[in-house]
Amino acid sequence: MVRQSRKKIEQIKEDEPMKVCPYVFRLNKSSGNSKKRSKPKIIYLLLFSLISSCFVFAPHLFYFPYPSALCLIDSSIKEIEDQVSQTNTEPPKPSIIEESILCDRAGYRSDICFMKGDIRTHSPSSSIFLFTSNDIITDHVMQEQIKPYTRKWETSIMETIREVKLVTKDVKKLFGDKHSCQVIHEVPAVLFSTGGYTGNLYHEFNDGLIPLYITSKRFNKKVIFVISEYHKWWEMKYGDVLSQLSDYPLIDFTKDKRTHCFKEAIVGLRIHGELSVDPSLVQDDTTTINEFRNLLDRAYRPRINRLESTEEHRFHSKAAKRRRMANRPKLVLFSRTGSRAITNEDLMVKLAQRIGFQVEVLRPDRKTELAKIYKVVNSSHVMVGVHGAAMTHFLFMKPGSVFIQIIPLGTDWAAETYYGEPAKKLGLDYIGYKILQRESSLYDKYDKNDPVLRDPNSITQKGWQFTKGIYLTNQQVRLDLRRFKKILIDAYSKSIS
Ligand SMILES: *[C@@H]1O[C@H](CO)[C@@H](O)[C@H](O)[C@H]1NC(C)=O
Repeated sequence: MVRQSRKKIEQIKEDEPMKVCPYVFRLNKSSGNSKKRSKPKIIYLLLFSLISSCFVFAPHLFYFPYPSALCLIDSSIKEIEDQVSQTNTEPPKPSIIEESILCDRAGYRSDICFMKGDIRTHSPSSSIFLFTSNDIITDHVMQEQIKPYTRKWETSIMETIREVKLVTKDVKKLFGDKHSCQVIHEVPAVLFSTGGYTGNLYHEFNDGLIPLYITSKRFNKKVIFVISEYHKWWEMKYGDVLSQLSDYPLIDFTKDKRTHCFKEAIVGLRIHGELSVDPSLVQDDTTTINEFRNLLDRAYRPRINRLESTEEHRFHSKAAKRRRMANRPKLVLFSRTGSRAITNEDLMVKLAQRIGFQVEVLRPDRKTELAKIYKVVNSSHVMVGVHGAAMTHFLFMKPGSVFIQIIPLGTDWAAETYYGEPAKKLGLDYIGYKILQRESSLYDKYDKNDPVLRDPNSITQKGWQFTKGIYLTNQQVRLDLRRFKKILIDAYSKSIS
């Protein structure tokens, strides 16, 4: 019976309204476990609500040029609210708009669910309940599952992410104080994971902070972040940035066992692409990658002001020298040791100084305070480094400045995709310096005709473990300084013009 009904759902999905809005009250397989599964009437009622809610959403979809096939539920809810408040027409039907669990699973990189109504967290079972008295909803328990992390396509890392269950509960069956609210919040929740690859700078920005910015910006800091796979160090490291996105303390979803109550919650994050914000996917034109960078600037300013006042104090006698140096354009070098290090780095630094740069060499580790790095990078004209996670710091550069990425053999695709292209989107003057065979330490290890040197693509095509084993963890760079000098001179003239 259930199977049959589901077939009907499939059929209806072919119809127009469903195409427009395929995610409203999406039935989940697990809902088949509910005791009431053998009641076809219920299913029809549900279908009716499905279709009718689509009609509610559908008109708005024609107002806005949404990307095809995507039903941006959060935006449509927002648009409905906006429209209602702007035109002051009838309020939206409470049963459909005010109580809902809507999941958008169309994204390649992430799923995201939206809840409205009487929302209560239940940390021990990793659940968020939606309490309702709406018969249409209560007669058929709805349950959605979601892993609130933005690397949906990478099954192995997703296995490390705890699933969150979103479940409807009948408010009439709410006895005693079992689920009574212990903390009541007037602002919405955004729940996401800081597990997975968190610990790597690129992933922290790409999988976490930028998606968090995209998802939560519209709440204007009136939002509470609920975090699964929470790490204290992460909160410390990004405290400055988080305070620009939310006025409220974080909730550690695993450790904080209290029942938190919300009227609205988003579970999961929207993500657009590598270290970027796609303007065509946001309604509001103040959500951009440049605005994200401005947010970083605001985030780090107080700390930098404090750093500067103590520096003034300490280096007062060196002020004259600093003033002389300050006239020179600054080049910041992200230095690596071990793999992908530049073996003639000292000579490269001297060369840059001779050309006229004031050079600052940074070797950040996981404990280095980001505000300090921001301070250096934000005051630089040129940033140089060998392809790797530290290139994420290009986000700290002022638009218009020069970013030189040194690209070891076999890393072209990753270098361009993860950093080169996003840097251009931020408005940086990006230069990819592809090293020649003889600038690679692999040149001494392999025969000139070995495909490792001659045709890196043929090796990297074989899979990530080959790219990693041969090119990422076992290669160093010995710059041809005559060749690199041209790049530096070019960067210098751009810096002083
Ligand atoms: C970054 O640099 C710009 C331009 O030099 C400056 O106005 C801004 O205050 C700097 N940001 C911080 C946080 O120091």
